[in-house]
Amino acid sequence: MKEKISYPKNIFFLGKGGAGKSTSAALTALHLSRNNRKTLLISMDPAHNQSDIFEQRFSEKPVAVNDFLSVIEIDTEKWIDNYLTDIQNQVKRTYAYLTAFNLEKYFDILKFSPGIEEYALLLAFQNIRKNAGNTDYLIFDMPPTALTLKFFTLPDLSLVWLTNLLDLRQKILDKKEIVSRIKTGKKELETDKIKSKLQQQITTYQQLKTLIKDKEHTILNLVLNPDKLSFNESQLIIKKLATFQIPVSNIFLNKYHDNVSISPIKKAFDQSKIQIFPQHNTELTGLKNLTDYLEKLEWDIQLIENQNSFNSKKPF
Ligand SMILES: Nc1ncnc2c1ncn2[C@@H]1O[C@H](COP(=O)(O)OP(=O)(O)O)[C@@H](O)[C@H]1O
Ligand SMILES: [Mg+2]
Repeated sequence: MKEKISYPKNIFFLGKGGAGKSTSAALTALHLSRNNRKTLLISMDPAHNQSDIFEQRFSEKPVAVNDFLSVIEIDTEKWIDNYLTDIQNQVKRTYAYLTAFNLEKYFDILKFSPGIEEYALLLAFQNIRKNAGNTDYLIFDMPPTALTLKFFTLPDLSLVWLTNLLDLRQKILDKKEIVSRIKTGKKELETDKIKSKLQQQITTYQQLKTLIKDKEHTILNLVLNPDKLSFNESQLIIKKLATFQIPVSNIFLNKYHDNVSISPIKKAFDQSKIQIFPQHNTELTGLKNLTDYLEKLEWDIQLIENQNSFNSKKPF
């Protein structure tokens, strides 16, 4: 058999609260696992729903649902702490002369600073990918819209900041070099720690930005219900993501029933494919209900790839 060079494919579920992100993510993950694809379902929403859906306890460590499916709940608080500790260490290393510099006492305040949650989620995302091993699919059950949009646009926005900071740093270094040449008559050759850290961060964010926008490696599924509020919020999401050139591959029209006309939805979301998830007569919880539902479900989109052609190229 052809050897598989593995990398995991990212599948994100986003949309208005209550539209069915968690349910659709669970059904999709279960579907992939029932087709022998190694799947990890990751709950990124602090209001973790997957335990209720699978009627099973989950945690930060993967817990198996079947031979091919495991579930993880991201502990956002833990990632915020990791992020702040990391910054503190970097500051200490870079500014070793500032012995009195004590960031610890500001930790409690920094935890609530704007932007911190999306950084934490991005760190968790990177960590999941790093440890994904031979997983085929990573299914992300995303938090409410505002935070999800910040998560997706963070690499782009960080790059704007970082390139400007790098430019500033270079100007400082050029000035320092002139001064040092006047003083000693030769060029200073030591590498600047701040400059290399900035360059390293730029590389990381460029990779993330590329990964998020690449339809071959990342699929965004927007879960939509046939009601006006959900419809409007979905259009806003698509518009916002489009300004960052982030494509929404599929619309999951969830809680669909016979009185819903699909053509206006198709017309409004003509850049995406439509997957229909019918309204179920009971709550969609428990492995039996989920499996029964999947057995009757028709897939309009093709998510499962041929395993030989799949994963032949690493994103980076
Ligand atoms: N296709 C469906 N048929 C019936 N009930 C559904 C369906 N999809 C979701 N639900 C129910 O709708 C509610 C919200 O779904 P959930 O997946 O938690 O949404 P979200 O994660 O977007 O907030 C839950 O009670 C869930 O059981
Ligand atoms: Mg949910």
